[in-house]
Amino acid sequence: MDICLEEIMGINIEKMKNELKRFTDKDHYEHTLRACEIIVELAETFGADKEKAYLAALMHDYARDFCMDEERVLKYCEEHGVILDDFCKKFIPGLSHGPVGADMVMRRFGVTDVEVLDAISRHSAGDRITLLDKILALADALDTGTMISEEARVAAKSDLDKALVLCGRHGSPSEGEYAAMLMEKRKTQPKKERDGTSIYFVRHAQSDPDTGTDRTRTLTWDGHIDTRKVASFFSAMEIDIIYSSPYQRCLNTLRNVALLQGLEIIQDERLRESKYGKLNGIFHEVIHNRWNDFSWCEEDGETLGDLQKRNIAAVSEILEVNKNKNIVIGTHGTALSVILNYFNPSLGHDNYLRIAGFMPYIVKLDFNGNDYVGHEELLIVER
Ligand SMILES: [Fe+2]
Ligand SMILES: [Fe+2]
Repeated sequence: MDICLEEIMGINIEKMKNELKRFTDKDHYEHTLRACEIIVELAETFGADKEKAYLAALMHDYARDFCMDEERVLKYCEEHGVILDDFCKKFIPGLSHGPVGADMVMRRFGVTDVEVLDAISRHSAGDRITLLDKILALADALDTGTMISEEARVAAKSDLDKALVLCGRHGSPSEGEYAAMLMEKRKTQPKKERDGTSIYFVRHAQSDPDTGTDRTRTLTWDGHIDTRKVASFFSAMEIDIIYSSPYQRCLNTLRNVALLQGLEIIQDERLRESKYGKLNGIFHEVIHNRWNDFSWCEEDGETLGDLQKRNIAAVSEILEVNKNKNIVIGTHGTALSVILNYFNPSLGHDNYLRIAGFMPYIVKLDFNGNDYVGHEELLIVER
């Protein structure tokens, strides 16, 4: 490393490391040292200030263990005027250590460089705005081992934005510019000739019922992390068009796929999930009866027959206007089960139960014209 590691911006690095070792557990300390090595390489590749990068990486997880205790975090924030946004408050152990850590690093070590403090603050929560924010978030992500795909590691050598999206760490004002650049690039690319049509049905990642209504609820933390697997799955192939149920959990699951493909997501109301009525604690009985009789439903609910009819109407139309294309459709557990059942009647109630915990889940259906040829399960994450 061709930087001075004794002192950066008048701060004694050895002293800082000793204090870090005392304040964080062994795993986090070792992760930090590896992130320092990675960030210097990234700074070199993308032309960032190496000393600032090293300092930011060294202290980025300083508050990680401190922030495992929610009460302690809230007390610290109140006493020191640290403001956490709502999303951050929801996942305090995972997200608050960025903003809290930046405040501690300033107070305890006298780091006053705004760029360094902002990068520490934003590595866990918020938009990544500066080059330093981005390389710190990426260095941090790249040291999480098997969670990171080979595609992301390759991108980390040449395309910072792509690498961040694949690591699930994007989220910045430049994301829009990046998407626009990819969309523009797509327009000039020659269209590939294909034999037959493939629809990749993507059932959404795990969602959190406490975050909104059926339509608006978002993903759990695990679900959010799992969306990386979906983005990586599609990153090496060319998708021609993306449709989705308009429900937030489906849109969130496909967000990074759309970004990397330079496509917009076309929402189709007919692809929404089944409407459940009064379940009165007898969910399993309701499911059993629904599958037994496609014209039956509980009070205020929707029959599987109606659910299938509207989903298949949408899928047939999509097939009709996208011959010989690679199509992605964002969908739901029950909706997908009746779609599969329509094309392959052997997939019924048992299959619905089998895939109930698969989220995200990718299954490809192949068509010759409008004729169903077969299906293949390509990604299963059990939650
Ligand atoms: Fe962190
Ligand atoms: Fe970290």
